Amino acid sequence: MKRTAYLSDLEPYLDQTVTVQGWVARRRDLGKLIFIDLRDRSGLLQVQVEPGSPAFAEADRMRGEYVAEFTGTLRLRPESQRKEGLGAYELIADSAQLLSAAVTPPFELSKGEDVSEDIRLKYRYLDLRRPEMFQKLLIRSQVSAAITAFLTAEGFINVETPMLTRSTPEGARDFLVPSRLSPGEFYALPQSPQLFKQLLMIAGVDRYFQLARCFRDEDLRADRQPDFTQLDIEMSFVNQEDILDLNERLLRHVFKTALDVDLPSPFPRLTYQQAMDTYGSDKPDLRFGLPFVDVTDLFAGGEFAAFAKAACVKVLATGELTRKQIDELERVAKQNGAGGLAWVRRDGEGLSGGISKFVGKVSGELLSRTGVEQGGTLLFAAGEWKKAVTALGAVRTALRDLLHLASAGFETVWVTDFPQLEYDEDNQRWTYMHHPFTAPHPEDLALFGTQRQGEIRAQAYDLVLNGFEVGGGSVRIHDPEVQRQMFGAIGFSEEEAHAQFGFFLDALASGTPPHGGVAWGFDRLIMVMSGASSIREVIAFPKNNKGSDLMAQAPSSVNAAQLAELGVAVLE
Ligand code: AMO
Repeated sequence: MKRTAYLSDLEPYLDQTVTVQGWVARRRDLGKLIFIDLRDRSGLLQVQVEPGSPAFAEADRMRGEYVAEFTGTLRLRPESQRKEGLGAYELIADSAQLLSAAVTPPFELSKGEDVSEDIRLKYRYLDLRRPEMFQKLLIRSQVSAAITAFLTAEGFINVETPMLTRSTPEGARDFLVPSRLSPGEFYALPQSPQLFKQLLMIAGVDRYFQLARCFRDEDLRADRQPDFTQLDIEMSFVNQEDILDLNERLLRHVFKTALDVDLPSPFPRLTYQQAMDTYGSDKPDLRFGLPFVDVTDLFAGGEFAAFAKAACVKVLATGELTRKQIDELERVAKQNGAGGLAWVRRDGEGLSGGISKFVGKVSGELLSRTGVEQGGTLLFAAGEWKKAVTALGAVRTALRDLLHLASAGFETVWVTDFPQLEYDEDNQRWTYMHHPFTAPHPEDLALFGTQRQGEIRAQAYDLVLNGFEVGGGSVRIHDPEVQRQMFGAIGFSEEEAHAQFGFFLDALASGTPPHGGVAWGFDRLIMVMSGASSIREVIAFPKNNKGSDLMAQAPSSVNAAQLAELGVAVLE
């Protein structure tokens, strides 16, 4: 190539003649000199063009975001002007070539962080020119290479599964694609490769992985996209411990390779029950403390009516809070299903403020159980267990953000033993919590079909990183009889099960090895690893939070002829 090297790799060429290519990030005219900051994916280098130089006339035509080439001598800048990295160098140009002109950019790339996200998404090709954005794409690529290398060495093979398929059981809404060849029929885009990877185990593949595109039509959030990528893994003849071990080794390898960070071995674990009970979340952020203390017994049958009958009373001890902060936290508690947020403040060896006049009798016990500091605040949630802990869990997360409690770095935790079934209040029926092919704990099998089936624990686990669910998986059912019980528990008749998953149930009866696996939210993992605040920052061409691609303008209407060919009519 004509180019000597990327800008950031020029150091060895000090005092030599080099050729560089890139974009004009900035042009300044000082006296008779032209200074151009040239940008490529690796960084910025100052190019100096002197008035007598043969490069001058060409450089004088250059404007922001023009593509340019310079040849000249690489020098150290005068000592007083030297900055870090590339900022220590400059190129004294002998020749210049304008390779391509550019329209005036709609935003100043150096101010990218402050520009509205809609503008950045509309002109994503400009936004991605910023070296910070390139860094995120680079980490993404490095992590995918590290994953592929690690899993290949462990005997996993990469198999692709279809994009045009039928509904897969992840519980979100499907994206549908009308079939031209079978009018009135639709493909579904996969919510995950779940059934296919299990079929690959039945097929004897034994160890599978794929960086798989998945599609879910659900409400979008900062850590969700309708079109996202999973690292999908499945393995045969393994138990839960084997799968967790493989995942830990893989994640440690990824962090070491991409960030030179050492994750602990083994990762800490919490059961679902412990995580909810102590942190009010099935994806607890362990970068800070604030565990809940159970005080149900202190209030049971007591004088404070609001707590006396509650199935569960939890308290969280934090530092001194202003009234305004408490009001803000109360808003969070209410948003998350609590009636309000009761609080008291430690005042010497007693309590003041909030509900202090109702809890006087147990104040000594509250102080000793929580260890709240002088002036510190106790925050309470009471009610049905799940509602109470969930509301207080949201308050705990809000406290993290309000008081900047999270330490730098990375905290992983496995959350295990999720419930097999959960009660769907809206539809008044039991449903699966993970997906219907998740294996229950063998000891809990007898609870299927009884009053206590809500207590059945699944061999299901989530991988949590800094409070984000970055992965989830399970051991699968490989016994058709257990599968029948599971369908029975969620009210699926044999006919319904066959109508929806017949091909899969037939396969399950054709010699299925014990198997299990996991899927990592690949984008979400990269988001946390790169410290980005939104998943959109680590996806080259993401959708905004209304599901639109502002650059390509998708979704878009299609013409009548296309619809007719598909046999589709649009309702007004
Ligand atoms: P699950 O539904 O938990 O499991 O998904 C696995 C991981 O994928 C990520 N994820 C998402 N990331 C971005 N945008 C979304 N809309 C989105 N939805 C999910 C999360 C999540 O932990 N087939 C099972 C896995 C298995 O059992 O092996 C599955 O898809 O990080």
